[in-house]
Amino acid sequence: MCGIVGYVGHRDSQSILIEGLKKLEYRGYDSAGIAVYTGKGMEVRKAKGRLAVLEGQLKEKPIAGSVGIGHTRWATHGKPTENNAHPHASGKVAVVHNGIIENYAALRKMLKMQGHTFTSETDTEVLAHLIEAAYDGKLEDAVIDALNLVEGTYGIAVISSKDPDKIVCARKGSPLLIGLGENEYYVASDVAAILQHTRQVVYLDDGEMGVLTKNGYEVLDLNARRIKKGVSRIDWSLDEIEKGGYDHFMLKEIFEQPNTIFETMRGRLVAEEGFSKLGGLNLSKEELLSFDQVVITACGTSWHSALIGEMYIEELARIRTEVEYASEFRYRNPIVNDKTLCVVVSQSGETADTLAAMREAKQRGAKTLGLVNVVGSTIAREDHGGIYLHAGPEIGVASTKAFTSQVIALALLTLKLARLRTMSVLKGREVAEAMLALPQQVQQILEGASEIEKIAERFKNASNFLYLGRGYNFPVALEGALKLKEISYIHAEGYPAAEMKHGPIALIDEEMPVVFVAPHDAVFEKVVSNIQEVKARGGKVICITSQEEPVLDGLIDFELRVPQTVDMLYPVLTVIPLQLLAYYIAVKRGLNVDQPRNLAKSVTVE
Ligand code: AGP
Repeated sequence: MCGIVGYVGHRDSQSILIEGLKKLEYRGYDSAGIAVYTGKGMEVRKAKGRLAVLEGQLKEKPIAGSVGIGHTRWATHGKPTENNAHPHASGKVAVVHNGIIENYAALRKMLKMQGHTFTSETDTEVLAHLIEAAYDGKLEDAVIDALNLVEGTYGIAVISSKDPDKIVCARKGSPLLIGLGENEYYVASDVAAILQHTRQVVYLDDGEMGVLTKNGYEVLDLNARRIKKGVSRIDWSLDEIEKGGYDHFMLKEIFEQPNTIFETMRGRLVAEEGFSKLGGLNLSKEELLSFDQVVITACGTSWHSALIGEMYIEELARIRTEVEYASEFRYRNPIVNDKTLCVVVSQSGETADTLAAMREAKQRGAKTLGLVNVVGSTIAREDHGGIYLHAGPEIGVASTKAFTSQVIALALLTLKLARLRTMSVLKGREVAEAMLALPQQVQQILEGASEIEKIAERFKNASNFLYLGRGYNFPVALEGALKLKEISYIHAEGYPAAEMKHGPIALIDEEMPVVFVAPHDAVFEKVVSNIQEVKARGGKVICITSQEEPVLDGLIDFELRVPQTVDMLYPVLTVIPLQLLAYYIAVKRGLNVDQPRNLAKSVTVE
């Protein structure tokens, strides 16, 4: 989950590369580097730490040249050091890489026998040596020869002073696209890096490579055969990838949710008829009725929304549903066949485990539906059909608006499946009308953010947190705990409230803050007894409620109120205070909320 950018054209490449890398830093930010062809030779500059370090060095000693590649790293092989940073060069070849070369040790041994010397601990460096060793006049031919020896995943960009004014890029497993300009071309891991220059892009698929010069580009396969590719237009605006006056992308994205929740529903709810219209499913009515099993697979926050989707589909559409960690599912021998609908949930659409799980389900005969936010991402291009979230770019590493939009998309899919089966128009209408009220209700909660900030001030120095919920709100407890862990580095656990008695209750003392997600739904009474158990052991109770609860008097220390809705939709409301609580605690601990340590926005390696 590194970030790659490249430029070939008539303008100075250094600033284009650095500005592009700034937009990719959410993918990895432990070191960075660029390589530029200066007209006389190739210059490589690398630095450990955030991009700003490299940018500072380049301000002092800039590199002039109109062909260059850049990289921001999330270390997999070799610690974050200047030496291990990309680009890796060998002779007159420089390479930037996103992915993992699985057979790098064997290749390294072979190259050492041929007299090559290695300067880094990385897997990537073998690529530079392989290409240099294979070079015989055309860079793309040398890259093809090298890649045919490689096992693993890659998104790469390569330049060489032997074949200047050219970038060769290739993809297998890691996202890569080509940006089209007037006599200038770009390569990038993500459109955000080049959006200020072009909206015309060509997405590379696995096994494809691009050859870019300032006069044009071509796409080849790894047998050097030309491939005709479509050009896509990107609709995202530049503003959408800026902070818009907020201190952090995460806060901006939390406050965008009244709009993004509406955007996920826009034109997809027929409230009067109580059903949903989903044009991208690419499944006939007969096919939608033929499924006797739904498997939902995902990772991280997306896995939490999947748990809510499972309850929706089982309870309203009455179809047996399983939720699977994608990283486990891909190596298990799951019972999946052509009667299985496999729903794949992923904000980025590039998470390696989720992509592999989808491919596994596909080859077992399942129909796959991608619930994805990034248009044109690999999962979206390889699934049978899907539902785009339309939540706009999510740049903060801690996912927020994508979660609420995923829950909405799962509710829309459930309405589709349920109204085709046994759900009445009245029930469908009740759910649809409650969904349409959510944007305004979320706005109401956001207006109370300052109350949440006060609670954050109280608990900013806590060393542990427990989050508890029941039914639809158990996954929200998991999500609240994940948000806090990700950005504040406080150890936190989410649990089904009743499970607490079977162990975690031993953790409770005066120091332990316990967050209860307890709107007044069908299991509220049961949650009250769990709150009593915690209070009896001195725990500090923060409680999310949806109405006056006299029964909670004297039992809770802090109360956060959300508006009332139908039971199944409370997760969209109750998660908001938990997102803000985690955000404010992290800010008060002086941490980098948008780029938390050790994390990256989309995990494109296994
Ligand atoms: C969530 O805040 C994290 N960034 C992470 O758990 C994320 O949800 C997970 O990596 C899945 O990403 P995806 O939705 O892009 O597939």
